[in-house]
Amino acid sequence: MSYHYIKVLVQDRIGIVTLHRPEVLNALNLQLVYELVTELERIETDDSIRVIILTGNEKAFAAGADISEMAGEEAIPMLLKDQFVVWDRIAKISKPIIAAVSGFVLGGGCELMMNCDMIIASETTRIGQPEIQLGVMPGAGGTQRLTKAVGKVKAMEMLLTGEHITAEEALKFGLINKVVPVEMYFKEALRMAQQIALQPPVAVRLIKKSVLKAFDTSLAEGLDYERNCFYLLFSSEDKEEGMNAFLQKRKPKFTGR
Ligand code: CAA
Repeated sequence: MSYHYIKVLVQDRIGIVTLHRPEVLNALNLQLVYELVTELERIETDDSIRVIILTGNEKAFAAGADISEMAGEEAIPMLLKDQFVVWDRIAKISKPIIAAVSGFVLGGGCELMMNCDMIIASETTRIGQPEIQLGVMPGAGGTQRLTKAVGKVKAMEMLLTGEHITAEEALKFGLINKVVPVEMYFKEALRMAQQIALQPPVAVRLIKKSVLKAFDTSLAEGLDYERNCFYLLFSSEDKEEGMNAFLQKRKPKFTGR
């Protein structure tokens, strides 16, 4: 598949997707988002890939939705087009997605980052939801996911002032996993991806689904869901391999069956 605004590399069971519109700080135009979703869904069906890294460049993961594309929009055509519905498909990807971010992570860029499952940031990262300064508000999940990630008062501050926060502050509020020097952020994401790529893929998938369940269901329903996933894994060959390897004091070799 050939793309204009993303680059794709597959190595060691890891799918690396790089946003590539550097001249506008990876502003997310409709075509870029469409290409991204297309590729993520392709990776979803590719058994040779177990983990995804989503990244940009040192200067920007993404500076938000493309303002020049949005500026001329009107409400009713926008409503009918419902351009953000495509984002829901990113949330349905069952393989773990690690965001490796640096520089500007703003607006839709922050919303995209929050659709990922783990986030490694460089120390130069600036995160924010500045839509209010454009006279609008987030439209791709910012008010919901940011609030769930950092809590009400910090989310209100970020959303209502539009100010950026540093990677250190984001770490303090539990928005990201780790802050590392700029030359390390991709390597660190790769290291994490390599670790996850060695795990049993079906268990990985069910763990991701169970964790995400916690965001939109009651505790009782979530526990029930988790328990059923746990029992289901007892029909997998990887459960046999994992437990036998432990008992035989060797490293397991998981196949995904
Ligand atoms: N859309 C379109 N173009 C953008 C862009 C965006 N979101 N962000 C940056 N660019 C472009 C600039 O227009 C500029 O292009 P030109 O060279 O052709 O003028 C280029 O990228 C470099 O940007 P700057 O010259 O502005 O770089 P800077 O270092 O001075 O400032 C910045 C960087 C603070 C990120 C600034 O570019 C900025 O504030 N960008 C907009 C951020 C923003 O408001 N994002 C939210 C968008 S709305 C949204 O995302 C809605 C949603 O919920 C999905």
